[in-house]
Amino acid sequence: MTSSSTSSEAVRSNFLEFFRAHDHRVLPSASLIPSDPTLLLNVAGMVPFKPYFLGEAKPPHTRLTTTQKCIRTNDIENVGRTTRHLTFFEMLGNFSFGDYFKREVIPWAWELSTKPLEEGGWGFEPERIWVSVFKEDDEAAEIWLNSTDLPKERLVRMGPADNFWSTGGAGPCGPCTELYYDRGPDHGAEGGPEVDENRYIEFWNLVFMQYERSDGGDPELYGTDVIVGNLPAPSVDTGAGLERVAMLKQDVANVYETDLLRPMLDTAIDLTACRYHGAEEESQEGYEIDVALRVIAEHSRASAFLISDGVLPSNEGRGYVLRRLLRRIVRSARHLGFDGQMMTPMMASVIDTLGTPWPDLKKQAELITRVAQAEEDTFSRTLQSGLTMLNTEIERTKASGETALNAESAFTLHDTYGFPVDLTVEIAEEAGLTLDRDAFAEHMEAQRARARAATKDQRIAGTTDIAKRVASTSGFNEFLRDVTEADSQLSAIIAGDDLLGEVEEGAEVTIVLASTPFYAMGGGQLGDHGVITTPNGRFRVTDTTSPADGLIWHHGVVEAGTLRVRDDVHAAIDTKRRSSISRGHTATHILHATIKQVLGDHATQAGSAIDQGRFRFDFPHFSSVDREQLTAIQAMVNERIIANDTVETDIMSQEEARKAGATALFGEKYGDQVRVVRIGDYSFELCGGTHVHSVSEIGLFTILSEGSIANNVRRIEALTGTDAFSQLSTEALIADQVAKQLKVPLAQAPERIAEMLQRLAALEKQMAALRQSSVLSRIDQLIANGVSVTLANGEGATIVQTVLEAADHETMRSLATGVISKLSSGVAIVGTMSEDGKAMLLAAVSDDLVDAGVHAAEVLRPGAQIVGGGAGGRGPVAQAGGKNGAKLDEAISAAVNEAQHRLANAGA
Ligand code: ALA
Repeated sequence: MTSSSTSSEAVRSNFLEFFRAHDHRVLPSASLIPSDPTLLLNVAGMVPFKPYFLGEAKPPHTRLTTTQKCIRTNDIENVGRTTRHLTFFEMLGNFSFGDYFKREVIPWAWELSTKPLEEGGWGFEPERIWVSVFKEDDEAAEIWLNSTDLPKERLVRMGPADNFWSTGGAGPCGPCTELYYDRGPDHGAEGGPEVDENRYIEFWNLVFMQYERSDGGDPELYGTDVIVGNLPAPSVDTGAGLERVAMLKQDVANVYETDLLRPMLDTAIDLTACRYHGAEEESQEGYEIDVALRVIAEHSRASAFLISDGVLPSNEGRGYVLRRLLRRIVRSARHLGFDGQMMTPMMASVIDTLGTPWPDLKKQAELITRVAQAEEDTFSRTLQSGLTMLNTEIERTKASGETALNAESAFTLHDTYGFPVDLTVEIAEEAGLTLDRDAFAEHMEAQRARARAATKDQRIAGTTDIAKRVASTSGFNEFLRDVTEADSQLSAIIAGDDLLGEVEEGAEVTIVLASTPFYAMGGGQLGDHGVITTPNGRFRVTDTTSPADGLIWHHGVVEAGTLRVRDDVHAAIDTKRRSSISRGHTATHILHATIKQVLGDHATQAGSAIDQGRFRFDFPHFSSVDREQLTAIQAMVNERIIANDTVETDIMSQEEARKAGATALFGEKYGDQVRVVRIGDYSFELCGGTHVHSVSEIGLFTILSEGSIANNVRRIEALTGTDAFSQLSTEALIADQVAKQLKVPLAQAPERIAEMLQRLAALEKQMAALRQSSVLSRIDQLIANGVSVTLANGEGATIVQTVLEAADHETMRSLATGVISKLSSGVAIVGTMSEDGKAMLLAAVSDDLVDAGVHAAEVLRPGAQIVGGGAGGRGPVAQAGGKNGAKLDEAISAAVNEAQHRLANAGA
């Protein structure tokens, strides 16, 4: 067991305190969902600070330190298999934005690493630390050798793949130096990190941020190929994996056995009743069991953090990352022979273990558990139905004499139904079939190429070159929040990828102003419309968007005259539209607070779209919201409107906002200064949108619909102001018409309708009985018209036939059996054509004839073939159906002929 001094808690706090003592401000971790549009998930401690490195925003302090939640899934296949691969990890980091550089950070890293734990360091033995520097970075090498006790034998130089760092995409980058710890000869060969990275574990990376790079794709690229310029000032970004340091300090075999993951591993061991082999894992089988247990523990932790940051399972983007993790847990459990439910106890284990340092886990406990459990249940059913499909495919393959399973079917099972291919192979092999792995791999590669193309598009959306060019030539645009019209200057005209100097009437372009009262689409709120006039022209704005932080673009058409760059302009928004949208935005905040009160804290906003007079609001919830709850929500929102709180906005630090209890939405922009919107003491949210001044301006609120948009995600559509009023008055009008038709006061309408429905049901029943008795009254007549036949044994029998108009099965059957009960011996054949043109045939045969070997189904068969169907059933009654109703008469004649033929031979 770990002593308290080597707990991960001590590793974490010693790091943060060390840097706090060196004048760093400790900031909380940002969400796993980055505000940076070029990244799917937060992959490093520096991600939230990219704008500070690039000089696009001013940091709250030039020295910061954090423990940042990170997710990296590029090595997901290695999780559980090596000593150190994780999808989720905590990255401890210290950052300098144009403040200190190599000379300060290298000695600090040495000091913290080697200072004893009880004195606030990490207590690593200095003789076991190795260091790598970038091969061209003589300065860093010199500092290591002259300012620390590191001997030159333990300093190695490496190339850009190891010692030049960037996120892999556009952004800040620079050479780095890494610290490794030698775990000793039991863990691999002598010779430093280049020889064995399992023995020499990298635990800390110090990056000397100096350059800005473009989106080159290849992580090994550096230099003029991808570097597009220098950062405003040399800076520092470091990252130490908490789990790795904990592993080294706790002297356990791998990161999964540290106090950060061991409790989850133990829960998985208990649940599956499997033995964890750990150090004794000598056999391949033992190793595979351990891997599965470690995957369950690791992925459970990652999933819980993703859900607590607002990610829900889906088939794309972050949702897909989560889905994949959850499904890998289920598969690992199946691999261990466990097919019960495991998510609820696994998630509880994560929350118990990490809920103190990460209180959001506790706050979202219900959401985490429910979402994970629902995904497990869905996937278990998928596995079940996938199995059925696979078995059918195996049968088909065998029947056709082939020996290989169709690769395309295996791919469809994998891609569309989420059925794992290794399972497909396993089951196919059991059935003596193979799978063409190469053909399967081709399908996968094609799929990956499609996915890559999709991600590429997403990335470009946030950082198009043209946006950069406009920003660098015309600067950022100021949003004039408090006015609806203003004078400004036209700073750029954009058409596609080109910047133009002037445009004529009719041109559809994007224009940029130095400052603008137009709100750009964001935070769920749609962009403004309006008019921008210049001395010689007029531009109609049909949308306003923001291609990147600080940029506001007006899209539309030149309605008259000419526009020129540097023209003086007057910009005026469509105020009616804006007011209507603002009403909706304030209403979403009130709705958000109300939903949380009525449904619980888990029902946090998961998305919204605010248009004129109407908006939609999405939130996680585990069942539909019932009528009473909806009525309560609607009433509470309208009560707030009447209470007429004032809407107040303020700018404050993120820390202050959180302390004051502001609702921060998932993926909210991480900046030090945030805007908060307070509605009385009812609602307090981070928000950049526009709002009414006092709540009664909303006028009226009504819910239009409530429904599901995905597993556990609900959507409410609502109306505000005059749109709400129109909706309610339309409904009132319809209600009034209903009452008039019913000839009762409106209040009595529901009762009246219930009464009428009851009467209608009784009448329908009566009708059916009447119809049947009228059919039955024809029995004697039908028998009189029947054909008499003499059997081989000399007895007589009768064949009766008739066609009914659109009759149901019950009526046909009553008629046929009614005929038989009146005949001592005979066959009755009834046919009908349904309204959609299908033929139905029914035959009944008397018991004596059945005994003599005449079966109803056989009598019908030739007729059934004529209408294009088959006959079923054994014994005295059979029916047949076919789509060719037009041939009904012909079919009946065929059945009668068949009956005659069979009777003539019966009893012979
Ligand atoms: N950003 C650097 C890394 O992630 C510290 O390794």
